[in-house]
Amino acid sequence: MQASAGTPVKRVIGNWKMNGDRVANTDLLAELKKAGPWVAEVAVCVPFPYLGDVALSLQGGRIAWGAQDCSAHESGAYTGEVSAAMLAEFGCRYVLVGHSERRAGHGESDQLVADKAKRALAHGLTPVVCVGETLEQRDAGQTEEVVKRQLSAVIHTLGPCIPQIVVAYEPVWAIGTGRTATPEQAQAVHQRLRQQLHAATDKAARISLLYGGSVKPDNAVELFAQPDIDGGLIGGASLKAADFAAICRAAD
Ligand code: 13P
Repeated sequence: MQASAGTPVKRVIGNWKMNGDRVANTDLLAELKKAGPWVAEVAVCVPFPYLGDVALSLQGGRIAWGAQDCSAHESGAYTGEVSAAMLAEFGCRYVLVGHSERRAGHGESDQLVADKAKRALAHGLTPVVCVGETLEQRDAGQTEEVVKRQLSAVIHTLGPCIPQIVVAYEPVWAIGTGRTATPEQAQAVHQRLRQQLHAATDKAARISLLYGGSVKPDNAVELFAQPDIDGGLIGGASLKAADFAAICRAAD
């Protein structure tokens, strides 16, 4: 769905992480296709080997698809990496960059994440830039400083292209823990992110800011009702068709 000038598109994006198999994926997508359409733009970000299957299954429909990472390099001797150009060939609309599981588990720096976002944009993909603080950082009162630093690298690297990204705020302590940020906690961070974007572009009001971290059907409505929360990035609940469909509905 197109946003009017000054309003962000509502989006719900599923992050399957390293889950699924070809049979389970087929069932999940068949159920999702039956459950839609939704007003919100809906997508699933799937493991690389399933992109071909998922593209075939979702082609021509209303659910978009994407990947969970891409290389910061264009092509060449980068064993194990997958380029943005390859993802574009498979019809991906989105690619997650800077998920905390990659920042923490693979040592991804703020600059590397920014370079990945730039490479994604160069191939017509929308990078979903993930930011978020650990529990230690929150307890130390560093939440704002951490997310600001993470987003800042992307703003500086993308320059005038910044309105083309999606941002996802995912507090690390809320991911897969069942402990979601309260709507007020999430809104407070989203508001700061929006202010930071406003300082960088006059189109900040149109950038979708998604919340992620233990979003479920029973907390999605309240989270998505916050003024600066434009939808969600959903992990565990995106693997259950009924739950994911209900969360998509909550963003309508
Ligand atoms: P959960 O919804 O399982 O907490 O995961 C959130 C997430 O990391 C999405 O990218």
